[in-house]
This record gives sequence, C-alpha cells and structure tokens, in this order.
Amino acid sequence: MPTITIDGQQVECRDGVSVLQAALEAGWNVPHYCYHPGLKVVASCRLCLMEMKMPHPQTKELGWAPKLFPSCHTPVRDGLEVRFDSEKVRSARQHAMEYYLINHPLDCPVCDKAGECYLQDYSEAFGTPTSRMVEDKHKNPKKDLGPHTLLYADRCVLCKRCVRFCDEIAGTGELRIANRGSRNEIDVFPGVPLDNELQGNVVDLCPVGALLDKDFLFKQRTWFLQSVKSISPADSRGQNIWIDCNNQGVHRIRPRFNPKVNDWWISDEARFGWKYITSGERLHTPRVRRGAQWERAGWEDLPAVVRFRIEDASEAEGGADVAAVLSPMMSCEEAWLLAKFIRQLAPQATLVQGVIPVEGEDRTFPGGFVIKAEKCPNRRGIETILAHFGGPTQTFADFLTAAGEGRFRVAYVTGGYPDAKWVGKDAAKALSGFDVLIVHDLFPTLLDKSAVVQIPAASFAEREGSFMNCDGLVQPFERAIVPLDGVKADGQFLFELTGRRGLFRAANVRAEMAAAIPAFAEVYEPPEMPKYAH
Ligand code: SF4
Ligand code: FES
Repeated sequence: MPTITIDGQQVECRDGVSVLQAALEAGWNVPHYCYHPGLKVVASCRLCLMEMKMPHPQTKELGWAPKLFPSCHTPVRDGLEVRFDSEKVRSARQHAMEYYLINHPLDCPVCDKAGECYLQDYSEAFGTPTSRMVEDKHKNPKKDLGPHTLLYADRCVLCKRCVRFCDEIAGTGELRIANRGSRNEIDVFPGVPLDNELQGNVVDLCPVGALLDKDFLFKQRTWFLQSVKSISPADSRGQNIWIDCNNQGVHRIRPRFNPKVNDWWISDEARFGWKYITSGERLHTPRVRRGAQWERAGWEDLPAVVRFRIEDASEAEGGADVAAVLSPMMSCEEAWLLAKFIRQLAPQATLVQGVIPVEGEDRTFPGGFVIKAEKCPNRRGIETILAHFGGPTQTFADFLTAAGEGRFRVAYVTGGYPDAKWVGKDAAKALSGFDVLIVHDLFPTLLDKSAVVQIPAASFAEREGSFMNCDGLVQPFERAIVPLDGVKADGQFLFELTGRRGLFRAANVRAEMAAAIPAFAEVYEPPEMPKYAH
C-alpha cells in the first residue's frame, strides 16, 4: 500500500489509484468535473489541480514544482507529496470556476439540478462571489437529444462524461462534441438520437444541469427528495438503485454503486420501468367470493378466511391436492412465509416455481454492463427456498399440466408482475377448475374469474425484504413509500397468515431463514463510495 502526503498529512492509499481518488477516499473535497471512476481519464476540466514535489532538474533537490498537475491523471506512488491547500491551487480553481460561469446562465431557480449541482457546490466552495463578465452571455439553444433526454447546452461545462459514457460503456457513441473552440457543444450525430438502453446514466453523470431527464423535468426540487436503498425488480441481476421519493410518491430512480452488480449504472428499464406502481388499474381491496358476487373482506379477517377455505376444500391426505405458486417477484422472506404456511397446513402440498418472464437474450455492453433476459428479481431465491422445503415441487408449466388433469383442488397463486399479461388464456383455463383459487396479485388478471379470494399485493417500492440475484447474492431492499390505500404489504399479510403477531421485519424473518438455509446468512451491502461529482 503506497503512502503519500497530502497537505502535510500521511495517507495510505490503494495501489493503482490516482491522487484525486486517494484524496477523495481519504475525505478531501477536491473539485472535479471530467473525472469519474467508471470512465477513462481525460484531465480536461483543470479543476483538480494540485502542487506536487519533484526533484529539481539540475540540483535534484526535492521541491514544489512551479506548475500545477491534474491530480486525476497522477498515479499515487510511495513517498509522493502533494498539496491542494495552497494559494496557487486556490487561485487556479477560482479562475477555472470564473471561466465556467462566463456563459453559464444563473437559472438555478428553474434548473432541475439545483441542490445537487456541482457548479453550485464548487462555486460556493471554491469560486468567487462576483463575476467580471460584462458582455452578454453566449446563449445556446435547448436540444431534444432523444426520447428521454434534453440538453440545456448553456449549462454544459464540456466535461465529456456523457460522450465517454456512450463510447466506453454503452458502446453506441451517439453523443459527440460539435464545432470548434468557443463554439464547442454537445450534440447527437444527425439522425441518430440518444436512445440506447443505458442512456439515462448520462443525466446522472452530468455534473451540472445540462442533461435532463424529460420524465423528471420540473417535477420536484431535489432537496425535498428522500433517497431509499432498493433493488430493481427489472431483471434477475438485481441492479442496485436509489428510490427518490417525496410525499409518499416515487419521483425518480437512480443507480446505487455496487461493484459486484451494476457499478455506477442502471438500465433504462430499471430507471423508468416503475410507473406501474402508480397505475389506477391496481387491485386495492381484498375480496372474497360469496356465490357469484365479490364481497369486500377486512384485512383482519383474511388470514382466517384463507386458512379455512384451504382446509375446507382439501380432501387428499396431507393436503396433496393443494398447491402454492411462489412468484419470482416475491422477496425471499415472503416466499419463505408462504411456503411455511402452506406446508404447515398441508404437508403434502406442491410448491410451484412461478412464471419466469424471459425477453430475448442477455445483453452485455462494451463497458461490461449486463442486462439479463430474465425479467424478475428473485428466481434463484425461490429456487433456494423450494430446494429447502423439498417434497413435491413443480415448474409452472408442469403445474398447469397437472392442474389441467385435475390433480389439484386448491391453489394459492402469487403474481406481482408489472402487468396482467403473465396469465395467458391457457393458464386461466388450466386453473379454472379449482374449488378454491386464491390470487395474490397487483393487477386484475384472467384468473379472477375463477378466484374465490383476491388479495391485493404491494409493489417493490412499498415492501421490504431481499432478492437473491442470478449470481446468488442476497441483496436487501427497503420500503420507500407506504402501500397504496387499501393494500397491505405482502410480507405483513403473510406474516399474519403464519399466525404471528406484530410487525413484519424482513431482517428478523431472514435471521430465521438463515438458521435453516445458510445461503441467507449473508446479505451483500455494497461499500460506501466517496462523494463523486455524480
Ligand atoms: S452535457 Fe453534462 S456530461 Fe455532457 S459534457 Fe456537458 S456538462 Fe459534461
Ligand atoms: S482535470 Fe482532473 S478532474 Fe478534470
């Protein structure tokens, strides 16, 4: 481990990092625009400059070199001595900040980035309070770069992060710097909109308010948002996300750094694919069928109703005519509780792996990012739980065949998919002959015609728990908002269904699971990263 000296203090750093990274990791606030740990270094913004001790060319005596060096482009080496806290560095930063503000409009009151803008932060920390600019500011037009993203070119500091992201990570290269010298500006190539599957990351990467997400435009002031740690259900990789919410509403989703899963990025389907949680189509009332009519049921009565209906309808010994479908949209804890409940009630019940939605094939991008074809977060978690409980288990396809042959009388079916399409006509037909069909889902589906109990489910943002991703990592997620009016979080309902009282806490249920299944003993929490201009 090399040790370097920053501003007179000895700092141990990781091998192979730059001085900037070492300083940021050690807690220094060094301004930087062009540097990002996930992109190649270009050292163009000149904000991270530092003084460095070097041997004098003639005398070989060690002293402060007369020029400044970009710390993002200087690798650490043992014994290196640098300083950021000097008059020379402060003056260079002030001049750089003055330059960045020459043409930058002072439109923070209407800029989406205000509150998390590094031009604001650095101006305050390292800039000057006044400008010497007396000429009119040069104005660039706003541009529509693609279906999701706008460019407010006036605000751009030309750090080229967005261009490098499209080149290095997405590999699609839609963005470029057009024109020369003072007329430089970001643009797309003619006829090629910014429309790759990872493009939303350029908005997060932009250190100022130049690239903006149309979806979030003018919706919220960032200082009102609360960020909650979560895992995207968009695919089986389990992309780590922040859910930014306010007033019990989700307003945007951003990437959360995880070196084992998604680094600094997320796919657009993880970023924008949450809108179904606000759909007016969602189920919000627990209902029980009496004759041909649905009747509203109270949440407090529902566990007893479900238990009674299952016990009453099952005729086979050990409940061999009972099945429970465990959807891969469930958390590990929810699946555990449901499997436990069913097997306590009917020890011979069949546990079924729910529908695994697959779209195309896995896609790997040049920067190493992978979008999985499996569009569910917890296939492996459900498999692990089924393997633990053993006994009769089935795939969904086999279950449908057996159901069509009349092997089951009772089923508890969980869904939780972002739409109702997961139930096709064949599935609805195969499950239509049950005496008792209990459906626990987000949306009305074709199963409702045959269901006798309908339980509204909560979305991922309204629940807590953990998903096991396709590589076997158990990743916890937190509840961001309260469930839709009338809905109870699935974990809480299943907790009560197993006869427990009090509040469902995913960590407590996971501890119980870990005692039985070692795979759940360790959850993976990514390391905290220094605050990058991100
Ligand atoms: S648009 Fe943003 S990310 Fe792209 S070069 Fe300008 S400031 Fe940098
Ligand atoms: S020059 Fe170092 S961060 Fe831009």
